[in-house]
Amino acid sequence: MARSASVFVCSSCAHQEAKWHGQCPQCEEWNTLAEERAPTRAASRRPVGARSAASGPVVLRELASDSTPRLATGITELDRLLGGGIVPGSMVLLGGAPGIGKSTLITMALGLMAASGRSTLYVSGEESAAQIRLRAERLEAGAAPGALDVPVLAETDLDSVLAVIEGERPDVCVVDSVQTLACADLSGAAGTVGQVREVASRLIEVAKRTDTAIMLVGHVTKEGSLAGPRVLEHLVDCVLQFDGERERTYRTLRAIKNRFGATNDVGVFEMRDGGLVEVLDASERFVSEATRAPGSVVLAAMEGSRPLLVEVQALVSPSEMVPPRRLCSGVDRNRLALVLAVLARHAGVSTGSADVFVNVVGGVRVDEPGADLAIALAVASAASGTALSAPGAKPLCAFGEIGLTGELRSVAHHLRREQEAEKFGLTELITPQRVGTLREALKLPNIGSEAVSARNAA
Ligand code: TYD
Ligand code: MG
Repeated sequence: MARSASVFVCSSCAHQEAKWHGQCPQCEEWNTLAEERAPTRAASRRPVGARSAASGPVVLRELASDSTPRLATGITELDRLLGGGIVPGSMVLLGGAPGIGKSTLITMALGLMAASGRSTLYVSGEESAAQIRLRAERLEAGAAPGALDVPVLAETDLDSVLAVIEGERPDVCVVDSVQTLACADLSGAAGTVGQVREVASRLIEVAKRTDTAIMLVGHVTKEGSLAGPRVLEHLVDCVLQFDGERERTYRTLRAIKNRFGATNDVGVFEMRDGGLVEVLDASERFVSEATRAPGSVVLAAMEGSRPLLVEVQALVSPSEMVPPRRLCSGVDRNRLALVLAVLARHAGVSTGSADVFVNVVGGVRVDEPGADLAIALAVASAASGTALSAPGAKPLCAFGEIGLTGELRSVAHHLRREQEAEKFGLTELITPQRVGTLREALKLPNIGSEAVSARNAA
């Protein structure tokens, strides 16, 4: 009996069907079935470093330890995130919103690698070779010598791309972006879940065979996930996420997953005219730019293993909207909701009839509970119209988690956060180690509800 060569896979629950349906029979989502090539036995994948054809179990100690030298990209922050450079034959996924600078970063990395004698290949399904040349000219004048020496292949057909990689066998190949390549055997358009998964898995296979390190660029979808519902994240060895706001110059690069290094680390870059420049003194920059106005506070955050001082700003303004707006960038919406609820219930700072905006300056994202106290202080300060630090003084610095009963809870690495604050002269600190509850914390800079009512009465 002939088996059909493709299956239809639900992009939300991964349920498989032989035929296309408008609604997934399993999770009942609409329009989520996408065509994929049916898995064949021969297509089973071998992990990186598995070079022997034997399929029996092996004792780890008896395996020759694999000390393949890494390919340094020449961009210090990128190499640090990758754990010392790219592992030959591995696959790195670089995700980020359109226009954030993904192509710029990889063009710089390829240029620097080409300049240091590595063979490189830039596969672009998005831009023509002429457009890439324009960017490379800009970069070569700036931070990335060698950007014009990178061979470029403008192609969207997967099989042609694979043939070129097999033929050229470069040390590093960039595919910009995974959503623009398509396999002709599948009926779905480029960028559908089935296509993206097929493209990535066939590229991985070739990467392993030719020992070529592949960097895949992936656009982040509206929901913020990388190239479909996390379809790629478990296929690749390393996932890097490039964040920031397009209008601002700061960009953060973060390792979300790394089979060959630490995760949760972050590198900070600045987009300049000649390309991306690493910001090694990010804390100092953000502290010196802090406004110290009402609604501003400095947060001692942890970005992976590194402390980072960032400014958190809040604006509280009367609203006619029901319910009023809660907008934030750089912090989690749900944590903001929790902080506002605790402020109202346990600290007497009510924002029920006001719009609340919270922003982490510089386009940095802080996704940790340690940001709670800084958000609360910024909101309370904005609501009362009182600055947290005296005029001319250094800004106030805070960190700590807020519990549902209004208590302050300690967070990881409090000593390293304190040291970072002291290093930049921030001696006014509010932390769970010094203060027990949110209500007491608000009394210190004198922005608690009592202070506000006394001021209003006066
Ligand atoms: P790009 O790398 O094309 O973004 P992505 O690949 O993530 O979509 O670059 C985005 C922006 O960066 C673009 O608007 C122009 C700007 N840019 C600079 O500011 N300086 C530079 O040197 C370069 C090359 C780009
Ligand atoms: Mg691009």
